[in-house]
Amino acid sequence: MSATVLDGKKIGRMIEEQLHNQIINLQSRDIFPHLAVVIVGDDPASHVYVRNKEMACERCGIKSTRIDLDGEISEEEILAIIHKLNSDNSVHGILVQSPLPEGINESMITDAILPEKDVDGFHKMNLGRLVQGDSSGLLPCTPAGIMKILELSNIDLSGKNALVIGRSRIVGMPMSILLAQRGIDATVTIAHSRTKNLPDICREADLVVAAIGRPEFVKSDWIKPGATVIDVGINRIQDSSRKSGYRLAGDVDSGAFNVAGHITPVPGGVGPMTIAMLMTNTIKATESMFR
Ligand code: GUN
Repeated sequence: MSATVLDGKKIGRMIEEQLHNQIINLQSRDIFPHLAVVIVGDDPASHVYVRNKEMACERCGIKSTRIDLDGEISEEEILAIIHKLNSDNSVHGILVQSPLPEGINESMITDAILPEKDVDGFHKMNLGRLVQGDSSGLLPCTPAGIMKILELSNIDLSGKNALVIGRSRIVGMPMSILLAQRGIDATVTIAHSRTKNLPDICREADLVVAAIGRPEFVKSDWIKPGATVIDVGINRIQDSSRKSGYRLAGDVDSGAFNVAGHITPVPGGVGPMTIAMLMTNTIKATESMFR
């Protein structure tokens, strides 16, 4: 059996195109959606992600401003930049690329962003709303993108066993809440580094969301035949046969393509969906400021 590939690039581009009318409408009112992206330090992967976000803004007609900060910058200096962006009425969305250098308190930085400009959906107020069963606000982009790809691929989750591997603030935790919410109704298990018998738990799952950041960690014989597999991992593995010196690998072994019913590829699966949801959130944030 060979799995149906869930094409995040194609679906993500379709979502971006669907934003076009809203953007034209805003522009006709002299409102120009504007995203500010703050990046601290020189993590090569983060620079690639931020560049991809800038390119998506260009495709959609959203203005983007990139603020590159030295890795040695202090928390106070980052906070001062965020306060300035908060009070700039021409900026509608703000995100600070994660991870931040060691010693900087990420959640404090996130909580300094005005909740209505928090297009990453990481602010306590936005996450709190989600916990209370209200998913109408700014949702974290990766989990929201995964829900969208599942919805548009007609994957029914009601009463199904969903396993989320990883409990991060960015993916695992909000993902679990979205899957368990009323109307989706999956039965959710959150697994993490201390979970015992993960292979056996995984074999019971109709949906596996792998977000652990370890290359090819989930083995193909852990996957229930016909299950849906969402691979959030983008890991760089050294590969001297490539010009770049590395190749990208997901958190799931590629043998899963022969077992799963549906699967997201890496790259071209979750990544472009995350970006499409960031564009969606930026437009949502802009519109909500002029309602
Ligand atoms: N790093 C990895 N994913 C994300 C994301 O969705 N937003 C931000 N700000 N940083 C990230």
